[in-house]
Amino acid sequence: TIKGFIFDLDGVIVFTDKLHYQAWKRMADRLGIAFDETVNHRLRGVSREESLDIILENAHGPALDAEEKRRLAEEKNTYYRELLEELTPDAVEEKVKDTLVKLRQRGFRLAIGSSSKNAGLILERTGIAGLFDAVSDGNNIQRSKPDPEVFLKAAAFLGLEPADCAVIEDAEAGIRAAKAGGMFAVAVHSAAGCPLADVSLGTFEELLNIG
Ligand code: G6P
Ligand code: MG
Repeated sequence: TIKGFIFDLDGVIVFTDKLHYQAWKRMADRLGIAFDETVNHRLRGVSREESLDIILENAHGPALDAEEKRRLAEEKNTYYRELLEELTPDAVEEKVKDTLVKLRQRGFRLAIGSSSKNAGLILERTGIAGLFDAVSDGNNIQRSKPDPEVFLKAAAFLGLEPADCAVIEDAEAGIRAAKAGGMFAVAVHSAAGCPLADVSLGTFEELLNIG
């Protein structure tokens, strides 16, 4: 039985997936590297460093060393945080907030399970930190999705068994992570229809039919 919900953040609760794309695009354009939505799709749920490696598959010239890569990842993060400064509570749809509030009223425990090291800033700027009982993010993990670590930590923070948790994801890497962790996997938005998912939703509010 499901006792808790673990939500991915970027692309599930808030549209920051689009801001990640814009920030990577700005870096890629500066370097003359081809980067589009198809490549971007592979970055969903994946750490900053692994995302950079995927983007650099399309780069010409000699391979970059660790220091050069570190600087590029930092460049992207600077662009991204500039965009995050613009976020306000309006960035989270009312129907998303309503659904979270209703699930909590029904007694479910709610957590964030995000690979991002910027999750705290996003929750703060959108004013929704108080809707969650726990936050597991890029700052408390060694391995990013599709490894289940971030979700297993979230379940532990909630005091729940993984099997009693449902994970809500917009990334295939996240659906894989949820299944690897022994959780119920709910696909939304760009992950909808993912064959590994236990269920796909057309809208976020349909979660109320599960909980
Ligand atoms: C999320 C996003 C990814 C992003 C990752 C790391 O999983 O879906 O696109 O690369 O977080 O985010 P960060 O904010 O730490 O660079
Ligand atoms: Mg996501």
